[in-house]
Amino acid sequence: MDTGLNYNYKVVRQFTIATVVWGVIGMLMGVVIAAQLAWPSLNFDTPWLTYGRLRPLHTNAVIFAFGICGLFATSYYVVQRTCQVRLFSDKLAAFTFWGWQAVLVAATISLPMGFTRGKEYAELEWPIAILITVVWVAYAVVFFGTLLKRKVKHIYVANWFFGAYILAVAVLHVVNGAVIPVSAMKSYSVYSGVQDAMIQWWYGHNAVGFILTAGYLGMVYYFIPKQAERPVYSYRLSIVHFWALIFTYMWAGPHHLHYTALPDWTQSIGMVFSLILLAPSWGGMINGIMTLSGAWHKLRSDPILKFLIVSLSFYGMATFEGPMMSIKTINSLSHYTDWGIAHVHAGALGWVGFITMGSIYYLIPRLAGKTAMYSTRLIDLHFWVATIGIVLYIASMWIAGVMQGLMWRAVNPDGTLTYTFVEGVKATYPYYVIRFGGGLLYLSGMLVMAWNTWMTMRDTVSVDARIPALTPIHA
Ligand code: HEM
Ligand code: HEM
Repeated sequence: MDTGLNYNYKVVRQFTIATVVWGVIGMLMGVVIAAQLAWPSLNFDTPWLTYGRLRPLHTNAVIFAFGICGLFATSYYVVQRTCQVRLFSDKLAAFTFWGWQAVLVAATISLPMGFTRGKEYAELEWPIAILITVVWVAYAVVFFGTLLKRKVKHIYVANWFFGAYILAVAVLHVVNGAVIPVSAMKSYSVYSGVQDAMIQWWYGHNAVGFILTAGYLGMVYYFIPKQAERPVYSYRLSIVHFWALIFTYMWAGPHHLHYTALPDWTQSIGMVFSLILLAPSWGGMINGIMTLSGAWHKLRSDPILKFLIVSLSFYGMATFEGPMMSIKTINSLSHYTDWGIAHVHAGALGWVGFITMGSIYYLIPRLAGKTAMYSTRLIDLHFWVATIGIVLYIASMWIAGVMQGLMWRAVNPDGTLTYTFVEGVKATYPYYVIRFGGGLLYLSGMLVMAWNTWMTMRDTVSVDARIPALTPIHA
């Protein structure tokens, strides 16, 4: 077995464990707010338990804690293996781990206390935003520094995706984070009115494009070929869809602002680029799935591969649905409804969650000096429980969303509304209960993963230091 010699596995291991721990916390918050939507009294009339404060805690915990810790772990692992060198700087890498955990703890405390910039996915107040910038610059130095000192001439495609995600997040965070502080924990955006909205959704959509998409495509291009023991189906396609994807995403943000004060032509540009985005998105999905050509039988016995491949099917679904929802006439039905929440979670639970879980399952035994996870049957159990959870979640939200949209727009022959708003809320209630059940299943799967991780890692020997001399390393 490969010893991990020469590579910094310590920081990869730390981020891997953090991914699992934050995954449990973030999904637990999701289940709590799902319960509050069904049973609002669950806020116990306590300000820091209210939905308005816990919802951003959920989104921050799943995206910035679970999601980005997973990206740190995998990008640090992949860049070392494919460049065949140790990380550029161990100290700086350690700083990114502890610095990022400090950001996450600060978020966990400040959001329930009610400190927020009020911008979705960019809620954290200016002192925390500055810390994010510092950690991110260190991340970029470690990642690109490692690329620069690589021993192989070629830069493997997974690194292109990770690199694009690191660069784009830096630009997005700094531009959308431009504020004027007025006190220690309060600031105002330097932009105003519709410009502020446009900058925010340029940021928001590219957070989807570069964190929730490009970063995870980096995982696709390393862990799927590895686990399937097959080469990437088409290397050429991977390069073409990389450039098409990163160029197109940047223009699609206005689809979040249809029928607002944003100039109409800007909305149309957003819609057109979103439709174009279907092609490079599906290019990646097809390339990933076809990598299994000739090895389909492995899906029967390998639950890690199931996670990786099913994640791509959800990616395909979400990136078909997204362009459809960006068409103005469809958006007039879907916007403000739970259809949006169904779309988000098809992407979040199915794509982001599953590709991360599959990649982390691949990493854990290798980081613990073991040949496999403690229990393969538990991985299979996790897969099925989570899959049923996703289906319950997104099917209930699709039905609820379309129903809400149709009820809100229904008018009587005399022009009055057919339904009062509260009738829509009442009709949605059973679907909120089903979504809560689906979320609970998804969280249970994550708890199974945490147990399996603990059992695999509890007697880890330091793989880093096991063999002192240099031996040839293969990516
Ligand atoms: C071709 C790709 C995609 C396109 C064109 C697209 C398009 C859209 C559209 C039109 C909306 C609704 C905007 C609104 O009415 O407010 C939306 C919302 C959203 N999508 Fe996608 N989507 C795509 C892929 C994805 C993927 C893969 C994810 C991954 C999780 C994702 C995450 C989100 C999120 C988080 C929102 C909600 C934003 C908010 O209002 O807070 N999307 N997307
Ligand atoms: C146990 C699993 C989960 C449950 C039960 C859950 C539940 C929820 C609920 C109830 C909301 C608020 C919906 C609303 O405002 O009507 C929400 C929002 C959101 N969740 Fe989750 N969630 C889960 C996992 C995840 C994961 C893993 C991710 C990302 C990787 C994620 C990303 C989001 C995002 C981006 C939003 C905001 C959507 C928007 O504003 O349009 N969730 N979630």
